[in-house]
Amino acid sequence: MKTIDVCLSPDLIHLHNLKDKNVVIVDILRATSCMVSGLAFGIDHIIPFSNLEGSQAMKAEGYLIAGERGGEKVEGFDLGNSPFDYMDEKVVGKKVATTTTNGTVAIEKSRAALNVIIGAFLNITAVVNYLKQRDESVIVFCAGWKGKVNLEDSLFAGALVERLQNDFANECDSPLLVQAAYQSMKHDLVGFVKNSSHAKRLNRLNVHKDIEYCMKLDVFDLVPILKEGKLVLL
Ligand code: MLT
Repeated sequence: MKTIDVCLSPDLIHLHNLKDKNVVIVDILRATSCMVSGLAFGIDHIIPFSNLEGSQAMKAEGYLIAGERGGEKVEGFDLGNSPFDYMDEKVVGKKVATTTTNGTVAIEKSRAALNVIIGAFLNITAVVNYLKQRDESVIVFCAGWKGKVNLEDSLFAGALVERLQNDFANECDSPLLVQAAYQSMKHDLVGFVKNSSHAKRLNRLNVHKDIEYCMKLDVFDLVPILKEGKLVLL
């Protein structure tokens, strides 16, 4: 039977064998929510970078450069890391190079996987349908915060495990843990996530509407996938 596992932090990914597996990258606040929204809105493709220099250098190649550090837009960049930056007329048909504190690092650390796809609450059913029709086992890779486990990514992982429980066996205990957390909080997901450390961090930066938006379910029926280093729509 296909299996599902959950990696709760990039600092634990070395414990997982990614070979021949589908990896779902999750960074609800806000990297993967941006990637899903931007590609849905008409961005041609997105290249993720784990460092600033790599993203910056793409300006000369005609890319819009996007990114944040500590939740704040990088000075001199065209876009920050708000999903609303990614749903602006100026991005339609454009190429984007992005770097974020956690999300793009998780993508970088997933290169050994068979497929790397992008998951968010915004496209959760599309992700479920993609994984169900594939034959491979799955690892849900939570980007977390600077190596620490975070709530919002773990709850997404729990929601995914719950929706896939008839088709995938749990590889170890982390799927059980995140599913139990999801079951105990799904009656008020937005309320719990608004109380999370990163939501508070963003609020201190006067970022509010991004959190409500990133918690919306199934706004888009699409799955971004990494092809030769570029995130494109399947
Ligand atoms: C990240 O990659 O750490 C997040 O997306 C940060 C953010 O957008 O606030």
